Amino acid sequence: MLVILKRDDEAISLQAAQLIAGAVHKKPALVLGLATGSTMVGVYKHLVGLHQQGSLDFSRVVTFNLDEYLGLPATHRRSFRHFMYENLFAHINVNSHNIHIPDGTIRGNYDEYCASYENSIRKAGGIDLQLLGIGRNGHIGFNEPTSSIGSRTRLKVLSQETIDDNSKFFAKGEESPRCAITMGIGTILEARKILLLATGKSKSAAVAKSIEGPITSAVSASALQLHPDVTFIIDDAAASQLTQRDYYHRVLEMTALLTPDRLF
Ligand code: GLP
Repeated sequence: MLVILKRDDEAISLQAAQLIAGAVHKKPALVLGLATGSTMVGVYKHLVGLHQQGSLDFSRVVTFNLDEYLGLPATHRRSFRHFMYENLFAHINVNSHNIHIPDGTIRGNYDEYCASYENSIRKAGGIDLQLLGIGRNGHIGFNEPTSSIGSRTRLKVLSQETIDDNSKFFAKGEESPRCAITMGIGTILEARKILLLATGKSKSAAVAKSIEGPITSAVSASALQLHPDVTFIIDDAAASQLTQRDYYHRVLEMTALLTPDRLF
């Protein structure tokens, strides 16, 4: 696990965008797992910038989003699909046939739908690079605390904490969704490389538990300790409860010197 500590949100966004761009340069048909949330806005802004400068071509990139609210039509301004088009897809040359986002409008046979989403990932050759944010309760995607570490894409009931966190994005009187379709932790762990971004003090407990705590279903992101190639990029505020910050700096220096490929 690599831990990159950065000053602030802007530095994180830039570094993450550079790492993603580097991965696309290495493999133009990259299968890229994408996330939503405010932490991702700056990353997508930089990716759009790199594309507009002519240095980043998404024409062969295939994308899979982590999750979507259940019950929101694609046109709903708070759907993750809308978020992705507004912040990224509408501004780059990704082929619309290569975009995959769970369908929040499905009714009924959820298991069948979720198995077909998993199947699409498999048919694309698996996810090369998965981008993740983290919830205050340590969730990744919408894998709420107590999610099975082996879980696959499925219908998931949201925790009260997540509903409360997300209700600020919905209009007054508008009920925020209670359920979502999300990739499972097992699905995420199959990505070849994982990049988790976190900013702000409100994430510091979840970040510390994920990196330095025991692997437990009570903190979904702690399952990332099982993955051989995870990079956390976090700002000073989100890193404030980590106890081994000096060590992470030294590891980073030595990695740059000895195994720079690990840095993408
Ligand atoms: C939602 C998404 C997560 C994301 C989280 C954090 O819950 N399902 O994938 O990591 O929001 O969002 P923010 O970056 O706004 O804190």
